[in-house]
Amino acid sequence: MAEAAKQILKIEGVSKRYGGVQALNRVQFDLNYGEVHALVGENGAGKSTLIKVLGGIVPRDAGRIFFDGREVHFNNPAEAQAAGIAIIHQELSMLPTLTVMENLFMSRMSGRYGLVNWKAMERRAREALALVDLHVDPYALVKDLSISQRQMIEIARALSANARLIVMDEPNSSLSDTETDRLFELIRSLKARGIAIMYVSHKIDEVLAISDRITAFRDGAYVGTITSAGATEDMVINMMVGRELDRRATVDQNTGGEVLLHVRGLTGRAFRDVSFDVRKGEILAFSGLVGAGRSEVLRTIFGAERATSGDIRFEGKPVRFASPTEAIKHGLAMVQEDRKVLSLFMGMQVMHNVSMAQLPFMTRAGNINDRREQRLVQDFVHKLDIRLASIGDAVSSLSGGNQQKTVLARWLATGPKLLILDEPTHGVDVGAKAEIYELIRNLAREGVAIVLISSELPEVLALAHRIVVMHEGRITGVLNHADASEEKLMAYATGVLDDFAPAGATS
Ligand SMILES: Nc1ncnc2c1ncn2[C@@H]1O[C@H](COP(=O)(O)OP(=O)(O)OP(=O)(O)O)[C@@H](O)[C@H]1O
Ligand SMILES: [Mg+2]
Repeated sequence: MAEAAKQILKIEGVSKRYGGVQALNRVQFDLNYGEVHALVGENGAGKSTLIKVLGGIVPRDAGRIFFDGREVHFNNPAEAQAAGIAIIHQELSMLPTLTVMENLFMSRMSGRYGLVNWKAMERRAREALALVDLHVDPYALVKDLSISQRQMIEIARALSANARLIVMDEPNSSLSDTETDRLFELIRSLKARGIAIMYVSHKIDEVLAISDRITAFRDGAYVGTITSAGATEDMVINMMVGRELDRRATVDQNTGGEVLLHVRGLTGRAFRDVSFDVRKGEILAFSGLVGAGRSEVLRTIFGAERATSGDIRFEGKPVRFASPTEAIKHGLAMVQEDRKVLSLFMGMQVMHNVSMAQLPFMTRAGNINDRREQRLVQDFVHKLDIRLASIGDAVSSLSGGNQQKTVLARWLATGPKLLILDEPTHGVDVGAKAEIYELIRNLAREGVAIVLISSELPEVLALAHRIVVMHEGRITGVLNHADASEEKLMAYATGVLDDFAPAGATS
């Protein structure tokens, strides 16, 4: 018992600078066999940078890394992988136009195509998918899968590579509660087999539940390490942000403004008979399990998907937007869920990513006023506290959470009447989350109607005046803030409670 646990990883005094940004300043981190060690910190604290240094993706400026008792210098990802390190990156790294199977074994496929044994590969793919209990066809194209399915495939890929150390950079930011439960079961079984896990997440309650130890970074510096047993959320948040956070929920009185969006009997590919109203100044949440059809409903209203039937009125007039561009012209905006695939242009400057949604209008008016554009973007960078050196930085150089805020800034900059937010705080740290909540409340106070799609029940309860719950493509209930609780929302989301009368108005 007294024998010290065997260390698999030790990181000492690692520093990394990107241009003017000191991303890591002499940080430390260590990990034992069979241990889950969580790394937490605000957006931009340096978590992903440390992982990239460990994985041989970016070179370090200083410091030493010991793996399995020996000092190592990984010059590229292949060397780290060969040593037994598997990394599941924050930004999913699969090739969407290839099959599940090809993505699983891509890095290990030999160039000698004549010798690829497809039958054997298919069998191994099925084994790998079984490890994460994912039932998809190995020949399916990755682009046809949901984000959460893609995330499970990344995990299957790491497992089938026989890694001894698995690094998970926000592995469950797109997973539903049940999928997260499954992930945690998986992590526990990996632990039992002696595999070490480095776990990065902004979900503090889950970090406390799954980890043995927690280390915090702040602004690229090491803050401290604590044992998870006996630790509280407040202790962890305090290490991360260095101050107490006010996390109480305050929901304003519903302003009772006039109806802006009126939807009756809307039916589409993944949902049917959806009816609801949204008023000016109202925050209306759509709650439910991943796959309940919430995003599809709102994407349809936004003109990104087709409805088969139903009635939509905006400002009293019947509408059927043929495309998002048309919806934007009428004053709608939608922040979509997967920032990399659907929203951001990684190689472009932050400035253009933010001002992009308005470019069609700016150009129509003559030319783009560069100074005006800059001022507008600066304004939103400030409002949302986006951490960057300059608005000329490429989006790819921002931390994950700051990329998410950039997407938000773009849509806010269009000055919408109706703002649809699909999981707007994925990957955003606790401090920034509180700021985004305040921003959403302020927009509502100014009269903007807000539709919030969120799988996080605390988020829904903290923000929404009313909550529409969906289950398997149908509305099962509509609740006022005062009547809502996590238990009730779950009961409607799982179809246990179902008392929505489709014919009736819901306001
Ligand atoms: N390629 C790059 N070029 C320039 N700066 C970068 C680059 N990658 C990261 N940075 C900067 O380094 C700092 C640390 O970023 P990092 O991605 O490690 O943060 P993080 O802790 O993972 O944050 P998040 O929780 O938002 O994912 C940030 O200030 C970021 O803007
Ligand atoms: Mg990160």
